[in-house]
Amino acid sequence: MKSFTCQTSLLIVFLVHSNALAQNRFVPNYDETAIPAYELPPALVTNAGDSVTDRKLWENTRRPEVLEFFQSEVYGRCPAACEIKHEAVSEKTDAINGKAIRREVDVTMVTGSRSTTMRLLIYTPKSSSNVPVFIGLNFQGNHTIDPAKDISITKNWIRNRGGVKDNKATEATRGTAAGGRWPIETIIDRGYGLVTIYYGDIDPDFDDGFKNGIHRQFEQQMTPIPPGERWGSISAWAYGLSRAVDYFEQDDAIDAKRVAVIGHSRLGKTSLWAGATDPRFKLVISNDSGCGGAALSRRAIGETVARINTSFPHWFCDNYQKYNNNENACPVDQHMLIGLIAPRAVYVASATGDRWADPRGEFLSCVHADPIYRLLGTSGMGGESPPAEFPMAESPINSGHVGYHLRTGEHDVTDYDWAQYLDFADQHVK
Ligand code: GCU
Repeated sequence: MKSFTCQTSLLIVFLVHSNALAQNRFVPNYDETAIPAYELPPALVTNAGDSVTDRKLWENTRRPEVLEFFQSEVYGRCPAACEIKHEAVSEKTDAINGKAIRREVDVTMVTGSRSTTMRLLIYTPKSSSNVPVFIGLNFQGNHTIDPAKDISITKNWIRNRGGVKDNKATEATRGTAAGGRWPIETIIDRGYGLVTIYYGDIDPDFDDGFKNGIHRQFEQQMTPIPPGERWGSISAWAYGLSRAVDYFEQDDAIDAKRVAVIGHSRLGKTSLWAGATDPRFKLVISNDSGCGGAALSRRAIGETVARINTSFPHWFCDNYQKYNNNENACPVDQHMLIGLIAPRAVYVASATGDRWADPRGEFLSCVHADPIYRLLGTSGMGGESPPAEFPMAESPINSGHVGYHLRTGEHDVTDYDWAQYLDFADQHVK
């Protein structure tokens, strides 16, 4: 009897516990008919209630209001631009089958006695100077984008994935992201340069209360800013991208007025925020950026605000947590992030197998940003009005300043994606 009671109570404890776990487990919604009721905040009405019907009112009033909301409620406030120093590390004049010059340049961001160094890996076509470039952060180190043996390997913290152990990059991971993600030769053949930086050089991607990376360097500058509005890692990575453009202004091989910023996934969220905050990015590319990137938060399909703030609390500012399961209270949604880039070109891409990132929500952000682009004298997504239907896969929308495609396949960057980006870049930055 005693043992029966004991077993029974153990069973009850187990059932109660697993039920609690199940309740805490996040189950994403993928059903369009189960989307919560929502109304998007109006992009073209000022806080005072005035309709924005001309460029002046957008530029002088509404755009600053929207930017302010994204800074205080979503990504957090960045410090002002700091001094940069640069130093050449290596140069190879016959890289990529003799077609490119490949360099490594250390760009150091300096504030008083503190500094952070990021290493730029730069490819430019051999036969030209002052070229337009793509810049993109990479996930696992510069040496992963090209199998060449003489690219330096970062000593910084690396996420344990793709064969990485103990958070250290090794020889074994050389070239593991080469190919579709970074088609260097194709980019060079098309007349562009490519610059990449390991994102962990700027800020390591884990939640440590901002004790490391560029966050630590700016501790003092952050003190007067309300804690909820201090910059998260997406802001920090975007800040690094802007400092790279500061460096381009001093590099004759690169035309700092023709820079396209590209990013995948969390780094696609970053490229959008970089494009929103720095007008020197003439083309902004978001590859599968999803929640906190191009996807409308209010749809709450796939990954939600609550879920992303739980898994990655360091990406956004603390105020963003106010909108966990409470998206309708947020004064902005992600179509307004795209609107901040207007009238500069933007391209959003989704993949059919990437439901977590809500492809339709990414498309709808473009649709709802379209009126801002038209107000500013461009043709938005092209044609007389934005497309009424979600496009089929492999049917890119690319005739205006807001491009979009849905690709068949998984969450990744592929040759197909790059082919669209290069064509779009030819129209907007070349
Ligand atoms: C996770 C996260 C996404 C993010 C992605 C990535 O899946 O939930 O928001 O885009 O990681 O950056 O790889």
